[in-house]
Amino acid sequence: MKIAIIGSGYVGLVSGACLADFGHTVTCIDKDAFKISALKRGDIPIFEPGLESLIVRNLQDERLTFTTDFAGPVGEADAVFIAVGTPSRRGDGHADLCHVYEAAREIAHALRGSTVVITKSTVPVGTGDEVERIIREECPHADFAVASNPEFLREGAAIQDFKHPDRIVIGVESDLARQVLMQVYRPLFLNKSPVLFTSRRSAELIKYAANAFLAMKITFINEIADLCEKVNADIQEVALGIGSDNRIGSKFLHAGPGFGGSCFPKDTVALIKSAQDYGSSVRLVETTVAINDARKRAMARRIIEAVGGNVRGKTIAIFGLTFKPNTDDMREAPSISIIQALQDAGAHIQAYDPKGMEQARMLWSDVAFRSNPYDAAENASAICILTEWEQFRALDFKRLAKLVATPIMLDFRNIYSADEVTSHGFAYFRIGAASRTGPAPTNVSPSEQEAVA
Ligand code: UGA
Repeated sequence: MKIAIIGSGYVGLVSGACLADFGHTVTCIDKDAFKISALKRGDIPIFEPGLESLIVRNLQDERLTFTTDFAGPVGEADAVFIAVGTPSRRGDGHADLCHVYEAAREIAHALRGSTVVITKSTVPVGTGDEVERIIREECPHADFAVASNPEFLREGAAIQDFKHPDRIVIGVESDLARQVLMQVYRPLFLNKSPVLFTSRRSAELIKYAANAFLAMKITFINEIADLCEKVNADIQEVALGIGSDNRIGSKFLHAGPGFGGSCFPKDTVALIKSAQDYGSSVRLVETTVAINDARKRAMARRIIEAVGGNVRGKTIAIFGLTFKPNTDDMREAPSISIIQALQDAGAHIQAYDPKGMEQARMLWSDVAFRSNPYDAAENASAICILTEWEQFRALDFKRLAKLVATPIMLDFRNIYSADEVTSHGFAYFRIGAASRTGPAPTNVSPSEQEAVA
């Protein structure tokens, strides 16, 4: 089967590489000539575990090609995926669909023979209808069908998610679209991955509803974590206790500094706007967004309180900048609000992230980026873990204790146990449980010791 994918961003690249790996002949198309020539050489513009080798292998086997040429590959394709970005529209938070509609217009002029056009980009309900209308208007005699096939990939686990999905959602309005998409996903059908055929509009809404629900679940557990701190309960025990109920499920119950990334923040706001347009309200989602925004900045206050209420002139070490591990993506990362608030309060920031520092350097010129966690901890009044990278799970606390100005650890991802951290003389603060002090630190002034206690 011949497939063209428009947009070589995160979704386009992962989908293109995986579909080529299934044995299809895939052409990834992007207007960015610089990006395309890099991809042709096997240089991947994003960090995603396993993606580079998958792309290189399929390039070598000539199942995957990259091009800026639109008409040729689209004309030959049985299936054309639109995988362009749908960022928040400046000013009102609506999904900006200009790239989707532009792609639809260009597709219309390139179509030859029977083709299924599939939106993979996250798009509001009704976008498929508009894509169909545009193609019909531009090319009245074209033989085509429009389908919706939202993706549910998580950054950092995208290839696993594509090849072993919990479900594949396919929204179709015609038998042609159904047959072609069954062929596209044939290897997954054979693997017995659950496939849900729905109407096109339902498929579009499923994507937003899924992301909004997950964002709400995280926000719920974050609020329960705050309550745990007040009533001296432990969020990890509570999460286990509620998550063991199959109706609730244990995933996405990790309390933390608030959700970030390129999807949840943008998609929750877009869902709210769409719902408003239809005169329907999604108040739970509105509240989720408001709580999450406030939470990120409130995290900085916790750090300030932990060092005694004043960070002016003090150094704070930040371990982890990306919105989650195994990505270099900094979009809407909690670190952005937290570092900003700490700097506003006069703190000096020393930061380390295994993959995110290149992106982070574009955000801050006044953060001292260090090449490992130990250099970042030097002379710090507190260390704060913001992203749960594997390499932060086995830190050498003895070494850290000698480097810091004050042994205070704020673990916003709950990757340590209090006993482990306090046994090295650190005061330990985590999300959703009472803070714990260690034995009196030796290199701390009396006022700072008071603050820690
Ligand atoms: C999310 C969805 O999980 C994917 O299914 C979806 O395809 C994708 O958005 C998208 O729409 O493209 P992603 O943004 O890559 O994927 O990341 P997640 O793993 O969902 O994490 C999002 C945020 O929630 C991160 O900041 C993470 O730290 C936070 N999180 C997640 C928590 O704080 N607690 C949890 O229990 C889980």
